[in-house]
Amino acid sequence: MPPTDDHTDDPSAQPRPLPVQRELFDIPDDVAYFNCASLAPQLRASAEAGVAALGGRARPWTISSDDWFTGAEERRALFARLAGVDPEGVALVPATSYGLAVAAANLTARPGQRVLVLAEDYPSNRYTWQRFAGRTGASLVAVERRDGQSWGEAVLAELDERTAVVAVLATHWTDGGSVDLAAIAARAREAGAALVVDASQALGAVPLDLDAIRPDYLVTVGYKWLLGPFALGYLYVAERHRDGVPLEENWISRLGSQDFGALVDYQDRYQPGARRFDVGQRTHFETTPMATAALRQLLDWQVPRIAATLGQVTGRIQRAVEALGLPLTSTDRDPHMLGIGLPGETRAAVAGALAESGVHAGVRGSSLRVSPHLWTTDQDVQRLVDALTKATDGRVAR
Ligand SMILES: Cc1ncc(COP(=O)(O)O)c(C=O)c1O
Repeated sequence: MPPTDDHTDDPSAQPRPLPVQRELFDIPDDVAYFNCASLAPQLRASAEAGVAALGGRARPWTISSDDWFTGAEERRALFARLAGVDPEGVALVPATSYGLAVAAANLTARPGQRVLVLAEDYPSNRYTWQRFAGRTGASLVAVERRDGQSWGEAVLAELDERTAVVAVLATHWTDGGSVDLAAIAARAREAGAALVVDASQALGAVPLDLDAIRPDYLVTVGYKWLLGPFALGYLYVAERHRDGVPLEENWISRLGSQDFGALVDYQDRYQPGARRFDVGQRTHFETTPMATAALRQLLDWQVPRIAATLGQVTGRIQRAVEALGLPLTSTDRDPHMLGIGLPGETRAAVAGALAESGVHAGVRGSSLRVSPHLWTTDQDVQRLVDALTKATDGRVAR
């Protein structure tokens, strides 16, 4: 890992952008990858950690009983440091849908109350709360932005004493739209509503002040902005919910599971903190070291510096895109990604031009979603802008 040197005593100092880190990834020169919001490439360090872990897994006699616990605990602690939360509140879950299911199973609502989600929400969130509403008799409200409202303003306009749960994204997944979590959290507390956050498109890329936000539950996948492997996600559970009911009863979540010889001395109690919500087999011998290598690298880079760097990259893209006459779908956006509104008649041409140029970005809803990371070079940006110019020239109303 290259050393970073961002030591400053001035808390008002702006975080310094980082140099391009392409050499730490295995990305060919002719690939311009702008799809971190879908699936991040693995760091070379993660891939190497994975290969070493597979070697160890091939020889289980080299794995001690402690190893069933130490890697998972290290992963929990590193994630907690990155998120700025108490490690005791972190559960290791495979997917956001799993973490959201834990939240939904432990929250309540009455008929006539409301559950707020965002319009064009991520399906795992929408379906979870749709089911919750069906079970409890509450109504599901998908909050729309009207007349230039930000997501925060739109949610605040709906969030009142009728609200049982507000389940929002930390950053809108289709286009990087900013969600003012601090304001939503403050109003949710006033209204007595539970706050559930899906931070899959934010955590690791932008600073989140979870001490101030104090969500009831927060979930994130690990394979996007956390640069980790698939199926290793995270659920943060506020202290007041840590005695809740897990989705499943697995042996390792029970107190004293470290003593393999005593596992049939069945236990009523769970391991401390939020560990009762860990998914079965959360040890993941093969992939846990990949996740921890990535978390270490992110901690070394520092999230504010990652955000500052990605803000510069997306700023350059935004200026070029606007010069082409293309709109952003959210101008009020977080620094790490952007969504370009593509007029219907240009969509096929844009898709073709991007593919021809080795540019990878995703279409979500009505946006071409562009999500770079520290591997992104000036040439990548130029390649994207050239492809958009070629595909839209003369077809966009200026
Ligand atoms: C906001 C958000 N949440 C969650 C996910 C992944 O969901 P799950 O872990 O349920 O597969 C994604 C993937 O694109 C996402 O964008």
